[in-house]
Amino acid sequence: MKRTAGSGHDRAQKQRARISSVMFGVMIASILVTYAHIGGTIWAGNEPRAKPEVTCPYMGDAAAIAEGKKLFDRNCAECHGDGTGGSGPDLTDNEWLCGGSDAQIFATVSNGRPGGMPSWSSDLKDDEIWKIIAFIRSLKK
Ligand code: HEC
Repeated sequence: MKRTAGSGHDRAQKQRARISSVMFGVMIASILVTYAHIGGTIWAGNEPRAKPEVTCPYMGDAAAIAEGKKLFDRNCAECHGDGTGGSGPDLTDNEWLCGGSDAQIFATVSNGRPGGMPSWSSDLKDDEIWKIIAFIRSLKK
């Protein structure tokens, strides 16, 4: 049988080729996306400093600090006294056993610490924790 360009057989073959090249493109694209994702995660894990530090949004905000004081008296004073410490450490000095950045203090309050500091993530909203932190900051000696 003599084949002529554009015969039915030929067209079907071309169409199959087109479909498989589209499939191949999709496959390559999804592999690239997956690797970019994994790469990003690994990179972020190795370079924590590349992540911008979260800071307390209520620094110096008088109304938030007043609310923070109320929350502190209710929840924290039992162990931290007026902030200068009791069974829990002094929070007004410059010594931070668990890190003194806003983000580190937030993590301490939210997650708790093994040395007797309870976790507050289920009792206090993030917002309330930040207000308490603004209050603690306002006590700084
Ligand atoms: C049951 C007692 C207790 C209560 C209640 C408590 N804490 Fe603590 N807290 C501790 C102890 C004990 C530590 C020291 C933990 C450690 O060293 O592992 C601590 C550590 C901390 C630290 C870290 C201090 C540092 O030097 O790094 C912060 C900040 C803190 N508490 C804030 C709070 C806040 C805010 C509240 C209230 C929401 C609170 N704590 C309630 C006992 C308490």
